[in-house]
Amino acid sequence: MSNFLCNRRKGSRIIPPGPGGLLRLSGGKRMKNKSIILGISGGIATYKVCDLARKLVKMDFTVHTVMTENAAQFVTPLTFKTLTGNPVFLRSFEETSRYSMPHISLSQIGRLMVLAPATANIIAKIAHGLADDLLSTLCLSFPHKIILAPSMNHHMYRNPVFQNNLALLRKYRDKYIIIDAEKGDLACGEEGEGRLADLQKIIRAVENEIK
Ligand SMILES: Cc1cc2nc3c(=O)[nH]c(=O)nc-3n(C[C@H](O)[C@H](O)[C@H](O)COP(=O)(O)O)c2cc1C
Repeated sequence: MSNFLCNRRKGSRIIPPGPGGLLRLSGGKRMKNKSIILGISGGIATYKVCDLARKLVKMDFTVHTVMTENAAQFVTPLTFKTLTGNPVFLRSFEETSRYSMPHISLSQIGRLMVLAPATANIIAKIAHGLADDLLSTLCLSFPHKIILAPSMNHHMYRNPVFQNNLALLRKYRDKYIIIDAEKGDLACGEEGEGRLADLQKIIRAVENEIK
């Protein structure tokens, strides 16, 4: 059995979704596809997303994590592998991966992507169609909606270039759902806008999409 399937949480089933995000199982039964891609880029709020992963799993979602190499500087892939019961993907060109084109295979699994924390860097890449690592490539190839939860230092957040990139993405309402960062204490010790939105807000957005 492949590595990918061996590492699945017991009982979870990976079947590409049909129309409307519904899976057709043998015997004609239909059930909701509750597979989510959890994208993680390299921000300090990555530690909060461990809890998000836990909560999504508790809500019975099958969570497949894709991290940037920089995100893995903050929290190890092992943490997300353990919390979700699924292997974590970092690189497009992985000798040991079951998939020769993971950005395509993963885009066929998830019904929704949640990208949290979304760095200024990944927001810029998505806004301009750059695809130079697995996560940004998947953001282009992913056919469903993507929830983006940016988080960063307040100077970065208020920077007009960043705000312009965010504004570009807001235009594509059918594709991107932006959960704005909040005001408050920041990890850098300063105060201002840029805190990752409350996890409940992100979860509500997920529930709105997968009813
Ligand atoms: C300690 C530390 C904390 C950081 N926190 C953030 C952050 O919260 N948000 C952000 O946009 N960038 C943050 N950065 C900068 C990003 O890690 C950097 O822009 C990186 O290139 C992002 O790569 P990625 O988007 O591919 O993950 C931080 C960098 C360091 C060293």
